[in-house]
Amino acid sequence: MIILKSQRDLELMRPACAVTGQVLNEIAAFIKPGLTTRQVDEFAAACIKSHGGKSAFLGYRKYPHHTCISVNDEVVHGMAGNRELLFGDIVSLDVGVIYNGFVGDTARTVAVGGCGVLAQQLMDVTERALYEGIAAAVPGNRVTDISRAVQKYVESNGFSVVREFVGHGVGRSMHEEPQVPNFVDPKSNQKLRPGMTLAIEPMVNAGRPAVKILKDGWTVVTQDGSLSAHFEHTVLITESEPEILTWPAKMPSSLKVS
Ligand code: MF3
Ligand code: CO
Ligand code: CO
Repeated sequence: MIILKSQRDLELMRPACAVTGQVLNEIAAFIKPGLTTRQVDEFAAACIKSHGGKSAFLGYRKYPHHTCISVNDEVVHGMAGNRELLFGDIVSLDVGVIYNGFVGDTARTVAVGGCGVLAQQLMDVTERALYEGIAAAVPGNRVTDISRAVQKYVESNGFSVVREFVGHGVGRSMHEEPQVPNFVDPKSNQKLRPGMTLAIEPMVNAGRPAVKILKDGWTVVTQDGSLSAHFEHTVLITESEPEILTWPAKMPSSLKVS
């Protein structure tokens, strides 16, 4: 069942998503060479707390950290620890915050200090793929139209989309129906309707699409060791253009796709 959000729900969910976006901005600005991923997660925990929120990840299926921090070939669900961030690494930061009883979910990949040309291209293509997907998130379209927009953009740029992990509805729970795959899956063809709130989140590999899960039971890495990037926003379907809830400002016209 897909839960449509009422105006009253949205009055609560908009601030939840705005706080989540703000936390991600603060963490992204904090990233620098020499920090351990544990220090990043501790900083994130303090940010979330300072905004009056709670991590949506901590304790979710026994996940033990406040955020997901995935470095280089790590795709998603990277676990905070003693690993030091090095100049040239790319790091995917995924933040989920519970606030007002609603969840915001947003992610971004950033370079640590700087990075190589391929890594930069991968991040650019993944971010742009997210906006291609968002632009397709309009009533009259189906979930598959979002999926197709993402997949087409990624593959036409020579990269690949992960199949095993997908976007999702989001609201009072972090994961609601429907699933929002980053590839065309005929099973995910629900009609988009105003009031639906979706986490659209391309996970893109520089090499092959295949992934595996490490022995810690969480960390997802590319099977071929290639770099991976992840961008995510929580988006509201409206009667007209989509509203990016985890980015309090409206979509800048420079990022709009026709
Ligand atoms: N935020 C992730 C997503 O985008 C889910 C993380 S689950 C966790 O759907 F347990 F790893 F936190
Ligand atoms: Co997320
Ligand atoms: Co998500």
